[in-house]
This record gives sequence, structure tokens and C-alpha cells, in this order.
Amino acid sequence: MSVLVSGGTGFIGSHTVVELIEAGYDVVVFDNFYNSKLCVLDRIKQITGKSVKFYEADMRDASALRKIFSENKIDSVIHFAGLKAVGESVDKPLAYYKNNIGGTVVLCEEMAAAGVKCMVFSSSATVYGDPETVPMREDFPTSATNPYGETKLVIERILADVCVSDPEWSVSCLRYFNPIGAHKSGLLGEDPMGIPNNIMPRIQKVAAGEWDAITVFGDDYDTPDGTGVRDYIHVTDLAQAHIAALKRVYTVKGWECFNIGCGHGYSVLELIEAYSRASGKEIPKVIMPRRPGDIAISYADPTKAKEVLGWEAKLTLDDMCRDAYNFLVKNPRGYED
Ligand code: WQD
Repeated sequence: MSVLVSGGTGFIGSHTVVELIEAGYDVVVFDNFYNSKLCVLDRIKQITGKSVKFYEADMRDASALRKIFSENKIDSVIHFAGLKAVGESVDKPLAYYKNNIGGTVVLCEEMAAAGVKCMVFSSSATVYGDPETVPMREDFPTSATNPYGETKLVIERILADVCVSDPEWSVSCLRYFNPIGAHKSGLLGEDPMGIPNNIMPRIQKVAAGEWDAITVFGDDYDTPDGTGVRDYIHVTDLAQAHIAALKRVYTVKGWECFNIGCGHGYSVLELIEAYSRASGKEIPKVIMPRRPGDIAISYADPTKAKEVLGWEAKLTLDDMCRDAYNFLVKNPRGYED
């Protein structure tokens, strides 16, 4: 029996595929390479010694998905595939709704047709909007502040409705906080296409000498040093959370959600300082106005994941920065097909 991973050559997907293989799972991957490269499959083989069965496919293509389910004995799906840039989603809302929501509906239809009713879904802490207090718990109110976040929220609700309509379904929505870092080998890491939006790949541009300085979006927030506070989590810890959630969906029916974060907030300046320590690189900073849509503070209460999934983050901010820099050193121009 196999686990089907949608978006499995992406940043989080590829790291999760490695952990799945090393945990003994058979893995089938599909991806449309919108934000990833074919060479990632070779990197996965270099790390694990195993080749994954791969299909180049788009989740909106029902016939392509039907082919995958007909050719493989799939027993669960880990669903990463989706557009994920907050700013881009504001400019192109219809593309985000059509791809992320429309594609997930097609995927669920083909799963049901194949009798596959276990899913771990890649959700996001962005579903909490701008919370009244921190740390954030799973029972906090949800709202969206941008179309990307709206797609995550709507998909969570679609999956909940599917579980109500058919009690045989089991779904675990993992609400990621801020994934950063890279595989300890330096063979896998974060290599977004185009100009990166997230802070770590932007810091890496400075460390690589491509950019002169990192922009700090706002130093006037109500935080200890005035800069934004986030719950950064090592991508390998995040990948491990998917293994824990997969075991859960095999044993418990119905819909659940879990915060996947370290439970600690670090400011932008603290992150930059940690990266400088890990890399030995001075990272010049330019203070800029706040970025529209940003919230001041976001960090998780990860108690539920620890108590229910038996999962907790183990790696530190210094580990995240060390591994991110190691990926940069070994891949100065990112992945090269
Ligand atoms: C982190 C902090 C910025 C860039 C988003 C999505 C979330 C997930 C991760 C997909 C903030 C500051 C950033 C820069 C800066 N998306 N910053 N200078 O916005 O917390 O979360 O990405 O999986 O769902 O909402 O992440 O890395 O963009 O920003 O000062 O050049 O860094 O203001 O405080 P964010 P981020």
C-alpha cells in the first residue's frame, strides 16, 4: 500500500517524502512543477537510496489523478499541492481559488472514487487571521486576511463537510506556523521560484551576495524589539509531524486540526542574528514600513499535537539557520535542472 503525496517535490513535500521513505512507507508523488524542480527526485534518491514513483500531473486534471489511483494501491494522501504566496494571492485571487480549492475538490472526488478516504492536509496558521492573544490554540476563531489564507480555510471546511457526509473519511489538517531550514544533508532545501516572499530565502539572497541587505518590514510593532514575531519551525520537524498525523488518520475517523509550531516566537531581528551566528555572515538590514497584511505576533500552543499525535518540535532556531545556510553553501544557485 502506498501514500500518495501531492506537491511532493516542493519544499515541505520533498522533506516529508524523505521522512516517509525512511519510516518505511511506500510513496507515490505527483507534482506539476509550478514551484519545484525535477532534480528534487534525484536528491530524494541520494538521501534515501530509494526512487519514488512519480507522475507529472496537475491536481485539477481528474483523468491524470484517476490514472494514478488505478495504477497504484494508494491507502492515504498527504496533500501539499497548492499556490502559497500571500502577496500573489491578493493580485490573482481567482487563480488561487481555482487552483487550491478547485484542485482539492477534484483530488477528493478521485480519492472517493478509488475508495481512498484518509488525508493529511497542509493547512496554515494564517487561518487564525490576526488573533486577539497568543499563543494560538486550535479552538481560536478563524478568519482570513488574504485569498491564500481564505483558500486554506475553505479547504479545511470542505474536508470537514466531506467527513460529515461520509463517516469513513479521516482528515488531519496541519496548521503550519513558519517553516524554515533544510535537510541536514544540504541536498534538499527552500528554493522558491522567482523573487522570494518569505524571510528566510530573502536572508539567503543577502548571504549569497545577490542582495545588499534584508528589508525589515516594520520596527514599530508592539513586540520586544518592534519587529514581527513568528513561530519558526524546522522543515524536518514539520515533516515528522506528517508521519505522526498519518498514523492518526489510519486509526481515527473524522476531521481534526493541529497547530504545528515550536510554541515559541522569535522576532525578525532575532532570526537575522541567529542566521549571522550560524553562517558567520553579516546580514545588513534596512528598516522599511510594515508590509500590508502582516500581523505583529504569531506563535503556536502545540499542546494538542503533543498530546494527541505524540509529536513535538525538537530542532532549535540555530539548527534551522545552520541547515538553511548549509543548503545555500551546497546549492549557491539553488536547484539546477
Ligand atoms: C515572517 C516575518 C515579516 C520578509 C507567510 C504565510 C504563511 C506561510 C509562511 C506558506 C514577518 C518579516 C519578511 C522580509 C521581513 N505561507 N519579513 N522582511 O508572512 O509570517 O507567513 O509565509 O506556507 O501561511 O502567511 O512569513 O516569512 O513572509 O514573514 O521583515 O523581507 O518576517 O514582516 O514578520 P509570514 P514571512
